[in-house]
Amino acid sequence: MSDQQVDHGKRTWLIATSCAGAVGGVAVAVPFISTFSPSERAKAAGAAVEVDISALKPGEKLTVEWRGKPVWIVRRTPEQLESLKATESQLADPTSARTAYPTPEYAKNQYRSIKPEYFVGVGICSHLGCSPSDKFQAGPQPSLPDDWHGGFLCPCHGSTFDLAGRVFKNKPAPDNLEVPPHMYLSDAKLLIGEDKKA
Ligand code: FES
Repeated sequence: MSDQQVDHGKRTWLIATSCAGAVGGVAVAVPFISTFSPSERAKAAGAAVEVDISALKPGEKLTVEWRGKPVWIVRRTPEQLESLKATESQLADPTSARTAYPTPEYAKNQYRSIKPEYFVGVGICSHLGCSPSDKFQAGPQPSLPDDWHGGFLCPCHGSTFDLAGRVFKNKPAPDNLEVPPHMYLSDAKLLIGEDKKA
């Protein structure tokens, strides 16, 4: 398994060292938008984003920007998908029933995704907005339980999420990571920000 982050958009969201950091980092990352007129800016800020996922290999993650937020696309390996069953009893909301960050109907399943292989989630912690780090490697390691199966760790206050963005019990984050509206335009193309054909 690899915890390598692939970023074709040239922008990466660094691990936030303070909880205001995630949002501030995104604002700085899109300076070109300031040259737009107000109406162009509003359109760009809300526009859906088309993503080519054809080069994403099993175990890798791609980060794109949508509405100023980092959106992760993780291509999960069969072992990683299997790990989602093992952690169910340790999760705060395994079925995504909570409504603070409502999960779209098509992602209300164990994988929290349309296709089990691909997880699409907003990379912002539901506690105070830090961007969690990839912890795809299973097994004991600092700040994580010995039976860790792979997922994400929020560096700010230690919330942990599985590889479907589901938060573990008794952590400061009150909810799972948000799944944005999205749809497949083809096997290789995802549209983030829209989930039905116009
Ligand atoms: S921002 Fe506090 S745990 Fe993530």
